[in-house]
Amino acid sequence: MRNKVTIVGAGNVGATTAHWIAAKELADIVLVDVVEGVPQGKGLDLLEAMPVEKRDVHVIGTNDYADTANSDVVVITAGIPRKPGMSRDDLLQTNYKIMSDVVSKVVANSPKAILIIVSNPLDAMAQAAYKLAKFSRDRVIGMAGVLDSARFRTFIAQELKVSVENVTAFVLGGHGDTMVPLARYSTVAGIPITELMDAATIERLVQRTRDGGAEIVKHLKTGSAFYAPSASATEMVEAILKDKKKILPCAAYLQGEYGIDGLYVGVPCKLGRSGLEQIIEIKLTAEEAAGLKKSAAAVKELCAVIGV
Ligand code: NAI
Ligand code: 2OP
Repeated sequence: MRNKVTIVGAGNVGATTAHWIAAKELADIVLVDVVEGVPQGKGLDLLEAMPVEKRDVHVIGTNDYADTANSDVVVITAGIPRKPGMSRDDLLQTNYKIMSDVVSKVVANSPKAILIIVSNPLDAMAQAAYKLAKFSRDRVIGMAGVLDSARFRTFIAQELKVSVENVTAFVLGGHGDTMVPLARYSTVAGIPITELMDAATIERLVQRTRDGGAEIVKHLKTGSAFYAPSASATEMVEAILKDKKKILPCAAYLQGEYGIDGLYVGVPCKLGRSGLEQIIEIKLTAEEAAGLKKSAAAVKELCAVIGV
């Protein structure tokens, strides 16, 4: 049986996610957007790349959710991105309206799908999607931690002049200024970075990670990052479709884990064919736990504004 992935939003993140998924031959792809012509054009263009790339992937673009029926995974990237001077939180009301529209159509057509939420502000949008979809928490997962950790890994590899393949990192908490990069659990060839860099250097890299999204927005001026975000969403899709049981930092609906109840926050998650298969609880120092609590409080505040 072939896998089917729908990507809602054929903009920068959505179209580039389609590109990575097709390049890895993970699934047939449906790109859906409200704008007429854009998903159709991008979908056909990507389909025509498949003979060159030697990938048997079927890609279509559409404005009709009937084409998305019975998707295994649906990646939701629909929404406005931020511009210079805007925070992710400034997108809240607009993207909540878009999320409400999208989720009802997705669920009606793919009642068994696993949803990966990408739209910002991420944790609040994941919470909104979870409440709107009425799926169990294992089928609604937010993408942010893979991206934030990838940024941290990039900066660590650059600083130490080592292969990115040697670097693992963990960033927990909400996808915002309060995210919690965990230096103790970030390693180079298994060696904690706390053994390889002084505290001031680590703090500089941590801050650059927190500002990672804004750094790209400042360069681009008209939108936000999309290559690393789409690669990150694709890693989650791959972990699910291939039932890899891969542990990745994702936004998950916590029900008491880490002392947090009824809220989406970034934590280590095991992803497999049924979606979120386990939340891994790691020991945190008092300072890390306080950082996570503060981050959760910031997410809760946003959720309260839209009543989810
Ligand atoms: P974009 O503007 O390039 O694409 C967004 C697309 O959504 C547009 O094509 C638009 O027509 C479409 N859209 C709007 N309303 C829709 C609806 N009701 N139904 C279907 N499609 C609809 O924006 P980009 O750069 O792709 O970003 C998308 C979202 O992802 C933004 O909210 C952005 O902040 C977020 N994002 C989140 C990241 C994360 O780490 N979670 C990383 C990067 C972006
Ligand atoms: C980022 O971190 C915009 O949330 C997005 O790049």
